[in-house]
Amino acid sequence: MARIFGDTDIKNLKAVLASKQLGWREGGMVTKLDEAFAAFAGAKYGICRNSAMTGLAQAVAISGAGCGDEVICDPLVHFGGVAALSFNCVPKFVDVKYDTYLMDPAEVEKAITRHTKALIVTNLWGLCAELDKIRSLCRKHKIFMIEDCAHVIGATWKGKHAGTYGDIGVFSFQQGKHICTGDGCVMITNRKDLHHKLYNEWAFRGESPSFLTLNFRMNELTAAVGLAQLERFPDYLKEYNENLARYNEAIADCAWLRSRTIPKQAEQAGYIWACLWEGDKQGLSYDRFKELAAEEGIPFYYEFTERPAPTFPVFRKSTAYHHKDCPIRCPFYKGSYTPAKSKTPVAAKILKRVMLLPVVEVEPAKVRATAAKIKRVIKRMETD
Ligand SMILES: Cc1ncc(COP(=O)(O)O)c(C=O)c1O
Repeated sequence: MARIFGDTDIKNLKAVLASKQLGWREGGMVTKLDEAFAAFAGAKYGICRNSAMTGLAQAVAISGAGCGDEVICDPLVHFGGVAALSFNCVPKFVDVKYDTYLMDPAEVEKAITRHTKALIVTNLWGLCAELDKIRSLCRKHKIFMIEDCAHVIGATWKGKHAGTYGDIGVFSFQQGKHICTGDGCVMITNRKDLHHKLYNEWAFRGESPSFLTLNFRMNELTAAVGLAQLERFPDYLKEYNENLARYNEAIADCAWLRSRTIPKQAEQAGYIWACLWEGDKQGLSYDRFKELAAEEGIPFYYEFTERPAPTFPVFRKSTAYHHKDCPIRCPFYKGSYTPAKSKTPVAAKILKRVMLLPVVEVEPAKVRATAAKIKRVIKRMETD
């Protein structure tokens, strides 16, 4: 199945074209998608946007964090850090757990200071972080909680959908994600005040903006496809989860490829499958493994980013505004954190060992064939 664009997508697109209203309009496709996605995730409000990156940035903008404030982020991807920098905040990276690759609440607790105004937790590769614990910390310290949900449509933590623990959850409809509209995003929130601010102040709808943001609207054509794709989502998710299970099964008996731990509180949504190389403990060569995997034609990607996000120049060298150290050494910032000095050793270790395979946009027959190839490579490593 992988992706299907069919009659409903075309019917919806034709309706938009016939209306000659391609841009956002009250009660149009975007409004319908706002409502449908919020209902699907069990949130009160949905707010569609043109990408998750802009959604995350807007979430920071509305959080109240700004110059001189710290925003806690995790280090395996850079999107949270970029969103924080975009609104002149200092991104403060905290480490993840080795078994889940997700933000470690104990590290969050250590990182909180009186300068911490917001936190962006990435629910990475189909799995939610320990959202209840992170939310408790945020509530205790009055920190605005943003969930990066780009990878977790359909994932839950303690039975509640991703994105409903934070003040705002931000989902992506970019090409490679669970639901694809080319580009696009929906933010969800249970807070009426945030919904009002985002819908009434950002686009000259009668109220002038009280905070800095830009127009990040979704258009009606994108929402027309999004609505049709959301209807298909249960079938997609079933397939993605089956793909994920096939890869898990392929390494189940291997002592040196470590499966990702799925906590019992979590329901994973198949997105990217990952495992960690631990063959060195058994005296096996990673290079040899890569060689054999390449011979078999397994499309693993390794070290999907070379190093943790805080080492990226935009954070480490403060090149964001082409002005030395701005905004990290902002005169309004009274704290002492600098990303250049931050230590996220667990993230660094994961990045050196992680092997990834996509489970979205791939035909199940191909997944079955790849799973068989993985088993062959494991056998060859153990017998050659
Ligand atoms: C974890 C994560 N957050 C945010 C984004 C940004 O999403 P978008 O491409 O919709 O801007 C991505 C994109 O790949 C992502 O992987």
